[in-house]
Amino acid sequence: MRLLGGFVAAAVVTAAFLAGTSAPAQDEPDAAELARGAEVYDYWCATCHSAGPNMPGTQALAAKYDDGRPAVLTERGDLTPERIAFFVRNGVSVMAPFRKTEVSDADLAALSAYIVDTARVD
Ligand code: HEC
Repeated sequence: MRLLGGFVAAAVVTAAFLAGTSAPAQDEPDAAELARGAEVYDYWCATCHSAGPNMPGTQALAAKYDDGRPAVLTERGDLTPERIAFFVRNGVSVMAPFRKTEVSDADLAALSAYIVDTARVD
């Protein structure tokens, strides 16, 4: 998984290089991608993973980690795009897997970039 991600990233960078464009580094998503990621998150994830009461995702993660890490997804500093993609595509507990017709691969990439970015402390 990690190896494949690295390969894809290398291929994308190489393709961008060959095309003569300057692609943003993979850990620096552009503003448009982050904005799209926020939209996807608000639409599909926020109903279960926001802060506050009656949030199944937030409550389950608070119990799972026993408050050892933030229960709100967008505050987690330890999530990688690979880990987010795994749960989104496979589901867990009451969280159903998301089909590509619901969250496309491009939207999943934007969503993951958004979640990782919101937790970053600059
Ligand atoms: C129906 C409510 C619901 C929705 C909608 C939902 N989730 Fe979840 N999610 C959960 C629950 C509940 C868990 C925790 C399950 C457990 O391990 O007990 C979870 C776990 C996760 C985890 C695993 C975190 C960890 O460390 O174990 C990730 C990542 C995640 N969700 C991402 C997302 C994303 C991204 C979306 C939107 C595309 C989403 N979820 C939508 C309920 C939801």
